[in-house]
Amino acid sequence: MHQQTNEPWWKKAVVYQIYPKSFLDTTGSGTGDINGVTKKLDYIRELGADCIWLTPMYESPQYDNGYDISNYKKLHEMYGTMADFEHMLKEAHKRGIRVIMDIAVNHTSIFHEWFQASRESKENPYRDFYIWKEPKEDGSPPNDWQSKFGGPAWERDEATGDYYLHLYDVTQADLNWENEKVRKQVYDIMHFWFEKGIDGFRLDVINNISKDQRFLDDAGQSVQGDGRMYYTDGPRIHEFLHEMHQEVFAKYDSMTVGEMSSTNIADCIRYTRPDRKELDMTFNFHHLKVDYPNGEKWAIAPFDFLALKSILSEWQTKMHEGGGWNALFWCNHDQPRIVSRYGDDGTYHKQSAKMLATTIHLMQGTPYIYQGEEIGMKNPTFRDMTSYRDVESFNMYEVMLKKGKTEEEALAILQAKSRDNARTPMQWTSEKNGGFSTGTPWIEPADNDLTVESSLKDPKSIFYHYQALCRLRKEYDVITYGSFTLLLPDDPKIFAYIREGENEKLLVINHFYAGEAKWSLPDELKQAVEEMNHHVLLSNYDDVPKEIKAFTLRPYESIVYHLTKR
Ligand code: GLC
Repeated sequence: MHQQTNEPWWKKAVVYQIYPKSFLDTTGSGTGDINGVTKKLDYIRELGADCIWLTPMYESPQYDNGYDISNYKKLHEMYGTMADFEHMLKEAHKRGIRVIMDIAVNHTSIFHEWFQASRESKENPYRDFYIWKEPKEDGSPPNDWQSKFGGPAWERDEATGDYYLHLYDVTQADLNWENEKVRKQVYDIMHFWFEKGIDGFRLDVINNISKDQRFLDDAGQSVQGDGRMYYTDGPRIHEFLHEMHQEVFAKYDSMTVGEMSSTNIADCIRYTRPDRKELDMTFNFHHLKVDYPNGEKWAIAPFDFLALKSILSEWQTKMHEGGGWNALFWCNHDQPRIVSRYGDDGTYHKQSAKMLATTIHLMQGTPYIYQGEEIGMKNPTFRDMTSYRDVESFNMYEVMLKKGKTEEEALAILQAKSRDNARTPMQWTSEKNGGFSTGTPWIEPADNDLTVESSLKDPKSIFYHYQALCRLRKEYDVITYGSFTLLLPDDPKIFAYIREGENEKLLVINHFYAGEAKWSLPDELKQAVEEMNHHVLLSNYDDVPKEIKAFTLRPYESIVYHLTKR
């Protein structure tokens, strides 16, 4: 719990995620670029973030917006040149901002030269870079695994008649991590970028790289029926990540965050406990599945508030006890906007956006802010399929129609669930296209009543609430090191928790609904409140209740008390 000397910098850091394609276009091409990132570094500094994570900008045919990489050592020309990148890196470092790259090495694009060689013949030296299997006797795929983007996870290739595995899009072929040459190539790529001066990596779906080599059928064992138990946190995953750490990360002052698909707490402790030397922190998604009825993402249901509290609380307490480290987040480029999802993007837009920010930022871990979240960007509600761009949305639309949904029903589900909800252009100003581009944006802007320009002028904006949260993290050790205890687990409206340090406590009270809720101090805190001084550290209404023991919470009200020993 004490702050240790030589503590890694990222324990008190906040990361700002940039989706460059939708951030700022400086050329009029309609697509954001690296120079756009450089231009906004001062803005990011003003917010108080210490680090930026850039989603993939490598050479790519863009079937999955850059997560289908065809050359890991080149940048896609639409983003600019290597000189632009080096300039951005220098400017970021000048301002004390670290830069994390995003790398997808579970798979490459099928347009990568390794795959192009691999598909030629069974004897090609690159054949074993990917996962090729012969068809079953009747010509059907080697097993029943399903792609995360819909349809079978195997594609038959003309040249040899074998199938290759693709857990994601058909243009994203899974690499064979059993092959040592593949691993060496990946480490070499990572060194290439570290030597340019970057500060770390976000590792895309990294817990899927080790496949159970038996390649057995799911046969209805998993709820999704897609075979995930045979490659999620797979048999050799910890060995591979430890090797990666020894070969690469140990040699730099780096920060690494793994995106963990359908993972569990025990494995995340193993991934992130410092003495295991694997990764620094992990993203998991369980708290973002509480609005998936029966585990089904492509369906609409109100979020299960009690489940949300118990999931977040379990991860908080168990990761703390186990010595692991969480990446904290509500939003990223794959998730609908949180204010439209667990908040209210209408009447209580500002209050609910601030309340959600407080809830997640005051937990233990490293918080991530996704571009636009800090000004309260919301889902765009596209009215027509022609507005969508995302490969997953198109695939799932087809799957939904096949399963008998009407076009209207399928569209309504995409409006709530599509990844494009997060990918609309950043809203900078009240100018055309929100100041994102003077050309035609690659994806339509959402309606832009909230912009960076208007947020910076309004001292009560969501932006300044996020800024305060970034500042508090630096000032109060209890946010970084304190233990976590959920209060009132069964309360249907209030998400309250306590963070405890040596001589201080934080009491965080969040009301998740419109209407009113009654707060009264839980018994376990009564003594502490008698014995300690308290004051309000942060709130989202102008006037705050003076009495900590009992009061009525207003819609989406959020209050944080700091308690100190007398
Ligand atoms: C991750 C990325 C997502 C991508 C997928 C496949 O989940 O965040 O955008 O489509 O991996 O690379």
